[in-house]
Amino acid sequence: MIAWIFLFVLITTDVFPGRWKQRIKSPVVAAELYFILSFYFNTGHTAKRHFKLYGNSISLLPLKVSYSRRASHQISTHVLRILLEEVLGYEDVVLVSDDSGLSVDKALQTLTGCDNHSCLSSVVPDVMINTEVWVPPGYQYNKWVDSRLVDEAGTISTHGRFGWYLPTSFVESLWNESRIIADNWRALELQSVLGQLLCNTSQLNSHINITEYKRSCEDIVGCINGWLHGAKCRDSDKHCAVLLADFPDHYGSVIRQQINSLGLNISVAWLGSELEHVISRMEGQPFLLLNWEPNTVSRTKQMTRLSFPPCSASVSIIKAMTSQLDYYNCDFPPSHLRKFAWRKIQDNAPDVYYLLSKIYFDKDTLDILLRKHKNGGVI
Ligand SMILES: *[C@@H]1O[C@H](CO)[C@@H](O)[C@H](O)[C@H]1NC(C)=O
Ligand SMILES: *[C@@H]1O[C@H](CO)[C@@H](O)[C@H](O)[C@H]1NC(C)=O
Ligand SMILES: *[C@@H]1O[C@H](CO)[C@@H](O)[C@H](O)[C@H]1NC(C)=O
Ligand SMILES: *[C@@H]1O[C@H](CO)[C@@H](O)[C@H](O)[C@H]1NC(C)=O
Ligand SMILES: *[C@@H]1O[C@H](CO)[C@@H](O)[C@H](O)[C@H]1NC(C)=O
Repeated sequence: MIAWIFLFVLITTDVFPGRWKQRIKSPVVAAELYFILSFYFNTGHTAKRHFKLYGNSISLLPLKVSYSRRASHQISTHVLRILLEEVLGYEDVVLVSDDSGLSVDKALQTLTGCDNHSCLSSVVPDVMINTEVWVPPGYQYNKWVDSRLVDEAGTISTHGRFGWYLPTSFVESLWNESRIIADNWRALELQSVLGQLLCNTSQLNSHINITEYKRSCEDIVGCINGWLHGAKCRDSDKHCAVLLADFPDHYGSVIRQQINSLGLNISVAWLGSELEHVISRMEGQPFLLLNWEPNTVSRTKQMTRLSFPPCSASVSIIKAMTSQLDYYNCDFPPSHLRKFAWRKIQDNAPDVYYLLSKIYFDKDTLDILLRKHKNGGVI
């Protein structure tokens, strides 16, 4: 069924009922889905249903779905919600603001209400379904599944990966003019490259609104007023390039460790929701960006990912996320993007679980939806 989205995203139209535009904050995606669904199901009025949890008594519960700031996650969550409501007829689907998906440990804890897999808790978790959990290669989560706390419902798309990016035109011109290979972190040790990536601090400050992410900044050692200065930039940042990033909860503590363990002359500026606005006004000036696949940013400007040293077997990004030391000294891993659900979903609402297990976006479809998402404007 999801494959039909691929056909219909190509159709543009603005004749969709107003109620859809109010209900869904990603109007373009929603309008297209409404179109597909009305076409293929023509159901008119689906019988209204609730998620029933069978225990000593029967409780009617909302279906709580994780919703983060990542555009790809917003798309898959909206698609799931629309299908749950309009096809299966569930009345009470709630999107819960939850940033746990980048840390599989935290995501599994959130989905179970448990600290670890040896847990007999019967609490109803804050989030019951997460459509995009980043699972690094080799990470073992089977104990959670074997303990019947969660189910793993397959991948949502091809892999996801964070990285440091430069505009491709800048990388090319450094090669053409100076024979500098700039798609490698070593380029950030060259004065001639760093010198071109300095930014006007006061101008950036005017875009920083730290109330957007105050708590996640406090979690990162050295994050002050939306900035993090690498060890070499503390006294004076006149030799330091600026890494532009959105929110500190996007691996901010791992970035701090990369900067300090590799000894880079880099400061980080977290620009929150203003990031895309700031880089859209760079007008040919080169800049250094924290970004990831799949995301909307790399689609507007052609960006090239810098490679970092490969990780030795003993270094784990999961450990790095809670480390206060300068432990992580290597590249971000390519992660699997997996769907997980609280075990009681499959036990009590097998149709919901079946639907979740069937949702998948191939790379091209996701790229189209990300472009639409960006142009349609979301939250
Ligand atoms: C699991 O967490 C509980 C506390 O929530 C703790 O007492 C127990 O030792 C932990 N078990 C393992 C295997 O880590
Ligand atoms: C670099 O050189 C190649 C081949 O000579 C050319 O195609 C490309 O446009 C140049 N790029 C820039 C940014 O100068
Ligand atoms: C930085 O930007 C501010 C405001 O736009 C400007 O007044 C100032 O001269 C700039 N500083 C530098 C060093 O370019
Ligand atoms: C800063 O962010 C907060 C929380 O998102 C928002 O309420 C406020 O309007 C923002 N302030 C400015 C000046 O944009
Ligand atoms: C990095 O910063 C230090 C000052 O902390 C400076 O001495 C050094 O030259 C800088 N390195 C580069 C490549 O600019």
